[in-house]
Amino acid sequence: MDGNGRWAEQRNLPRTEGHTAGEQSLFEVLDAADALGVGWFTVFAFSTENWRRPVDEVRFLLEFNEEILLGRQQELHDRNIRIRFIGRRDRRVPRRLIRRMEEATNLTRTNTGLTFTIAFNYGGRAELVDAVQRIIDGNVRRVTEKTIKRHLYDPGMPDPDLVVRTSGEYRISNFLLWELAYSELVFSEVLWPDFRRENLYSAIKEYQDRDRRYGGVGESTGR
Ligand code: IPE
Ligand code: MG
Repeated sequence: MDGNGRWAEQRNLPRTEGHTAGEQSLFEVLDAADALGVGWFTVFAFSTENWRRPVDEVRFLLEFNEEILLGRQQELHDRNIRIRFIGRRDRRVPRRLIRRMEEATNLTRTNTGLTFTIAFNYGGRAELVDAVQRIIDGNVRRVTEKTIKRHLYDPGMPDPDLVVRTSGEYRISNFLLWELAYSELVFSEVLWPDFRRENLYSAIKEYQDRDRRYGGVGESTGR
């Protein structure tokens, strides 16, 4: 979800107004994904690098995320959505926010609809470092790809089919490094607060036109 700050700056508003405006995009796109039958929907809400932002913006983002959780968890629960988190629970994340995350996870644990994963204080490298550390702590002798997978923040999360990055930035920025090895990447010029369900549809359309070969020769060229 990128481009909130630029969206606000274009309107001579404080950057935080961009984050506030992005909430509507998030819930509209989540709703659209759910209606399409998407099973797993993950958003990058706060990265391990976002702590470098001005303290006021960091504080705003922490509180904003807490408010969103508090304000939306019941509605998501009523829609049979399962809420999960990936990321580091280090000391910088306020206790209260961690409690909110646990509440939302517990409330929706047994839901059977879409799984909505929020990457919070998440970094792809941090996830791999944490996985390796836990593998070592567990005295594992032989490491395979499955071993790594089992030690990720959410071993049950399938690799994403499609990753959409908004705001005209052509980078991965430390998102799901292990998981997106074979994901289709779609880059959109639209700033996140302007992103609407139609923009999700066009990203999915682009995805459907791709030929996924996973290193093989595929259907259109092979045989
Ligand atoms: C994304 O928008 C929101 C978060 C990272 C929390 P940005 O805040 O990165 O917006 P730009 O990139 O400065 O426009
Ligand atoms: Mg950005």
